Amino acid sequence: IGAALKAGPLAGKRILVTSGPTHEPIDPVRYIANRSSGAQGSAIARALLALGAEVVFVTGPAEAARPEGAEIVEVESAAEMLAAVEGALPVEAGIFAAAVADWRVASASGSKIKKVGGKLPVLEFAENPDILATVSQMQTGRPGLVVGFAAETDDVVSHAEAKRKRKGCDWIVANDVRPETGIMGGSENAVHLITDAGVEDWPRMSKDEVARRLAERVAVELTGAHG
Ligand code: CTP
Ligand code: CA
Repeated sequence: IGAALKAGPLAGKRILVTSGPTHEPIDPVRYIANRSSGAQGSAIARALLALGAEVVFVTGPAEAARPEGAEIVEVESAAEMLAAVEGALPVEAGIFAAAVADWRVASASGSKIKKVGGKLPVLEFAENPDILATVSQMQTGRPGLVVGFAAETDDVVSHAEAKRKRKGCDWIVANDVRPETGIMGGSENAVHLITDAGVEDWPRMSKDEVARRLAERVAVELTGAHG
């Protein structure tokens, strides 16, 4: 189905979603990664598609099924994700649900690091580019709506509010990822939506329902229409 045939409040709107973890190579056989199933990102993309949006889905190596009907861009590392995001612009809105690794190995080895005489390797790290902050702070071509996520284990709302200000995004979807909540890797999520109007505490619900509500809010923001 071509874009022209799509119906719904987000018809004709191009929206970017980042999803999944990134993998940062140590050598050709090893990597460091963030824990992320990609379930919430895929659900958000599906919910936006259901409202008629044209979705560009930039995903790291996630286990979640890719959203059918989206333009899928597969990446490995944070650097690749940033390049893919820049290549996807311009978009009307960007939803940055990916769990991007904060650090990469400064100089990944081109050949497999071998165990040699019990000597331990020492890895030096470099900080990855902040994709959300980069897009939020663009002088030209910034999406009209930029939504970040904040996965926190302590003081969820205050950390997320600080993150929203620091990065310059419009909204933050914050959640508590302490292991005992079972949220990471599970099918439910309990989020706080932080906008410049304040903080909304959403009850615990399925990741699909979080996605539907968020997509609906995006539609209202971009068009003034209720899905
Ligand atoms: N993010 C990003 N690029 C990065 C790191 C994070 O785009 N290199 C985005 C994530 O996709 C998410 C938001 O920034 O939407 C917040 O990610 P989070 O890891 O919670 O924030 P950090 O700034 O990395 O702070 P922390 O020290 O808590 O990890
Ligand atoms: Ca981080």
